[in-house]
Amino acid sequence: MKRILLAILCLGVVVRLAGAQAVDTPAPPGNYVPSLGDIMSAMQLRHFKLWFAGRLKNWDLAAYELDRIKSSFADAMGFYPGIPVADMTAMGPPAQQIDEAIKAKDSKEFARAFGDLTVACNSCHQAIGRGFIVVQVPTSSPFSNQSFAPAASK
Ligand code: HEC
Repeated sequence: MKRILLAILCLGVVVRLAGAQAVDTPAPPGNYVPSLGDIMSAMQLRHFKLWFAGRLKNWDLAAYELDRIKSSFADAMGFYPGIPVADMTAMGPPAQQIDEAIKAKDSKEFARAFGDLTVACNSCHQAIGRGFIVVQVPTSSPFSNQSFAPAASK
């Protein structure tokens, strides 16, 4: 009986430890490689959310979405080294300026740098023969299931 109790206790500790892992700790690597189109669709979503977060001065959310976009850049370059690296690195300076605008809470600079980022998206699409994929600064939100305004408590 004591042994069973001990085993249950140990199991409890293991479960607790597993539960303490950060929510974004990745699962062990498998063989899943997202298609470039899927990475780009995620990028499109984040490009959109970044814009609305910045527009509504939700700077925490904007910083988060910018970070997610950067991770999509890294995925695209890591999984698809064949895409023009020069065009990918061209996204660096506008992303950096967006980062600075977010830190400075500067809406005007944010909008300007966001425009530059969008130009960089399209110049790669043109360079790679996908000029028919035209990204633009969002005009309205199709997402009624997420609020982009800062939380009321702030
Ligand atoms: C270095 C090149 C490059 C850059 C930079 C780039 N893209 Fe792309 N994008 C591609 C390529 C290549 C495809 C086509 C992928 C395919 O056909 O599988 C694509 C496809 C897309 C698509 C179509 C996906 C679909 O399934 O409809 C969207 C949307 C898109 N990109 C958005 C963006 C956005 C937003 C940015 C900037 C934040 C961006 N892209 C920057 C190369 C790039």
